Amino acid sequence: MHSLRSAALAPWAQTDPVLKAQATLALDLSLPVGADEALPAPHTGPGRSARPELVPHTQLKAKSMATTEGRAMLVHSIAHIELNAIDLALDVVWRFAGMPDAFYTDWVHIAQEEAKHFSLLRTHLVGMGYDYGDFAAHNTLWDMAERTRGDLLARIGIVPRTMEARGLDASPGVKNKLVSAGDHAAGKILDIILEEEIGHVAAGNRWYRYLCAKRGLDPISTYAELIAQYDAPKLRPPFNMEARRLAGFEEAELAALS
Ligand SMILES: [Fe+2]
Ligand SMILES: [Fe+2]
Repeated sequence: MHSLRSAALAPWAQTDPVLKAQATLALDLSLPVGADEALPAPHTGPGRSARPELVPHTQLKAKSMATTEGRAMLVHSIAHIELNAIDLALDVVWRFAGMPDAFYTDWVHIAQEEAKHFSLLRTHLVGMGYDYGDFAAHNTLWDMAERTRGDLLARIGIVPRTMEARGLDASPGVKNKLVSAGDHAAGKILDIILEEEIGHVAAGNRWYRYLCAKRGLDPISTYAELIAQYDAPKLRPPFNMEARRLAGFEEAELAALS
């Protein structure tokens, strides 16, 4: 029972967000991976605290960036994405057996960077006089995790390469909003996040291509099929082409965006 993959279940199940981030950071990458171990799926989803209240994303209204509350709401919404990202990375580690060891250590490392992102944003939020849980949030990311839990190709094809890649596109605009309103500390946190998120999308691209090669599939046409089959969100411009190139998208994939 002491493999890296089975150890990933404890932070995944942890309901307290701060303890979840701490337990993720404490995962020991020197444990044997246990790549072929079949782990029984828990009956529930990942551990979540009673707050924030989850509402349909259409019910979330932004407030003016001129107010501390408006800026805190924006920081809170990013912290919420990072908390979901911890669970998404851990979920890939424990749920899907039979990949090379490097796949699992990549995804534990990603979970640890997400835990760092969450902690940086949550600490910043506390400095603004708020805390994680104070505003409503949506469950869009976890919904996509649920939909793709039966197939690793779909999970990797869609979550890092579509949802996280969308984060690369959104980052410059979000940073500009906060920095224009005078929140330079948030701007610095977003710089750290963007740099590391490029690495997460790059890992997604690497392992997506590995899975396509193993199944004899064409990465580009397969992606279009996955997007349709799983009803993934439609990507809209502006695209962060520079970050997408750094994350290893090929020119044909970038061209297919527009
Ligand atoms: Fe992140
Ligand atoms: Fe990420």
